Amino acid sequence: MAVDVLLGLQWGDEGKGKIVDYLAPNYHVVARFQGGPNAGHTLEFEGKKHVLHQIPSGIFRENIQNIIGNGLVIDAIVFQKEVLSLDKYAINYRKNLFISKKAHLILPSHKLLDAALEQAKGNQKIGSTLRGIGPSYQDKIGRMGLRVGDILSPYFQQKYNQLVQNHKIWLDYLQYDSSSLQQTEPLFWEAIDFLKTLNIVDSEYLINQAINQNKKILAEGAQGSLLDIDFGSYPYVTSSNTIVAGALTGLGFAPRHVREVFGIFKAYCTRVGEGPFPTELKDETGEKLRKIGNEFGATTGRKRRCGWLDLPALKYAIMLNGVTQLFMMKVDVLNTFEQIKICTHYKLPNGEITDQIPYDIHLAIEPVYQTFEGWYTEIKHIRQFEQLPTQLLTFVQFIEQHVGIPITLISVGADRAETIFR
Ligand code: GDP
Ligand code: IMO
Ligand code: MG
Repeated sequence: MAVDVLLGLQWGDEGKGKIVDYLAPNYHVVARFQGGPNAGHTLEFEGKKHVLHQIPSGIFRENIQNIIGNGLVIDAIVFQKEVLSLDKYAINYRKNLFISKKAHLILPSHKLLDAALEQAKGNQKIGSTLRGIGPSYQDKIGRMGLRVGDILSPYFQQKYNQLVQNHKIWLDYLQYDSSSLQQTEPLFWEAIDFLKTLNIVDSEYLINQAINQNKKILAEGAQGSLLDIDFGSYPYVTSSNTIVAGALTGLGFAPRHVREVFGIFKAYCTRVGEGPFPTELKDETGEKLRKIGNEFGATTGRKRRCGWLDLPALKYAIMLNGVTQLFMMKVDVLNTFEQIKICTHYKLPNGEITDQIPYDIHLAIEPVYQTFEGWYTEIKHIRQFEQLPTQLLTFVQFIEQHVGIPITLISVGADRAETIFR
């Protein structure tokens, strides 16, 4: 029937995993379309907490096909661990999980290259998750990459050796020690054998068959729109299209099948890694957001930088994605703030006030804020929109009016149940 796309409107970690898991029972298929093990999507339900990296967040719901699309880059070693960690939940991944033959592989040498390239950049490093994402996508675009379907070929080992030989030349040039490959390669081959036992499919056919059979599909984004390779704060971005267009190329369906675009954002902002962040708070307020919001990376454990909600950036992401509904997350984190700020415009060094994102990422942007009174009460238990405190309703209304898209979901806690659907 149609595909709904859920994607992050900020710099990732908006709470995509929680909401995909929450919405999944309404769908027949949940599919990831880009990224790889750089993602960390956290699910909490019935007192359990689980972080997914490459597996779609519909995996905990029964009778849903979970598809890993062609747009991903997959680390087989991480994947094996990730899949096996589902055993304790008795999930039937042999039946419910499908991997595209056209997804690219992250080799152990890609991870070394990621580290070597970051090291070479010195203080201009991206702050990559060091999961091999950039180098693997580089080989994909350079038409040298290895794909999941290749592991079924008798020539796979030969192709692998060729590519790794290439990588070693690079690593030597960058003076980066590649001796650890001796330890990781056996794990890689074991993981490839494991991967061969799972459902490796032509996922574009699977998706289009589902569409033709009137099934409902939810496409799950990774990272966030401000990390998009084309529209993010380049070069401080990830190496894939994180916006809605990435869902089409990363799964192989036509634009006319897109129905809703759910844009998910936090009631404030966070960013991991380097790069511009106009509303960043480097003071005790930022520290308070980090502490209450538990803002530490789900993949790397790094401290997330924290700041106020940035509406020019949010509007930009809404525009790029054609968002039809907004989901606002982690609203409870603001419960104990007397005053809450929202950046509505930027003041540029030449004095110009704008609500557009300037091309030059090095500009010293000064955020123009509007201040709101906090609600100063616990809201985790609330399940009805109308029961939210009036100050929070004012906050919601202001954002809706400013961006022109309705906020239809409000998240008041990390648990699946702590969700208000309007
Ligand atoms: P994702 O990458 O977009 O899936 O988000 P992450 O899982 O990396 O980060 C979101 C974090 O916030 C996780 O630890 C979630 O458990 C948590 N979380 C999600 N929604 C809420 C919420 O409404 N309130 C609070 N306090 N935590 C939340
Ligand atoms: P989820 O799906 C937050 C950031 C990294 C770095 C930049 C490039 O959990 O929201 P990469 O490893 O992709 O080369 O890193 O992108 N980054 C994320 N930040 N959430 C993510 O994923 C991220 N994936 C990558 O911190 O700044
Ligand atoms: Mg995350």
